[in-house]
Amino acid sequence: MSEPTQTPDTTPYAMLGGEPAVRALVKRFYELMDTLPESYAIRKLHPQDLSGSEDKLFMFLSGWLGGPQLFVEKFGHPRLRARHLPFSIGGEEAAQWMLCMRQAMAEHIADDALRGRLDKALTDLAEFMRNQGG
Ligand code: HEM
Repeated sequence: MSEPTQTPDTTPYAMLGGEPAVRALVKRFYELMDTLPESYAIRKLHPQDLSGSEDKLFMFLSGWLGGPQLFVEKFGHPRLRARHLPFSIGGEEAAQWMLCMRQAMAEHIADDALRGRLDKALTDLAEFMRNQGG
C-alpha cells in the first residue's frame, strides 16, 4: 500500500482548470496592474512590456498550485524573496499586488472556498515579499 497522497485532480491547479485557467488568471492580473490607478506604484516597478513578467508568474504559479514545476525547471529554485530584493516593497506595494490578484481571482475563480484559500496563501506570500517597513 502506498501512502495516501494528494491525487493530481485535487490540486488547486486542477480544480482551477489547469494551464488555460492559470494563464487566463495571470493575464488578467497584469491587465489590471497595467490599468488600475490604484496599482500605479507597483506597475512602475515592472518593465514596460509585461509579457516576460506574465510568463514568469504563470510558470511560478503553475508549480505553486500543484501543477507542472515550470519555473523551477527553467530557472531553478524560485528564491522568490531574494528575486524581489531589487524592488522596494512595503505594505502599500503588497496591498496593491493583492488588489490586482484579488480582482483577477474574483473574475476567474467561481469556487468560493478555493478562492478563499488562495487569497489567504497569496496574501501571506505577498507579505513575505516585503523588504521595507512602509
Ligand atoms: C508583494 C508585492 C509584489 C511586488 C511589488 C512584486 C513586483 C515584482 C517585480 C517588479 C518583478 C520583476 C518583473 C520582471 O522580472 O519582469 C517581479 C517578479 C516576479 N514576481 Fe513579484 N511582486 C510581488 C509579489 C509577488 C508574489 C506574491 C509572487 C508569487 C505569487 C510573485 C511572483 C513573481 C515572480 C515569479 C517573478 C519573476 C522572478 C524572476 O524570475 O526574477 N511576486 N515581482
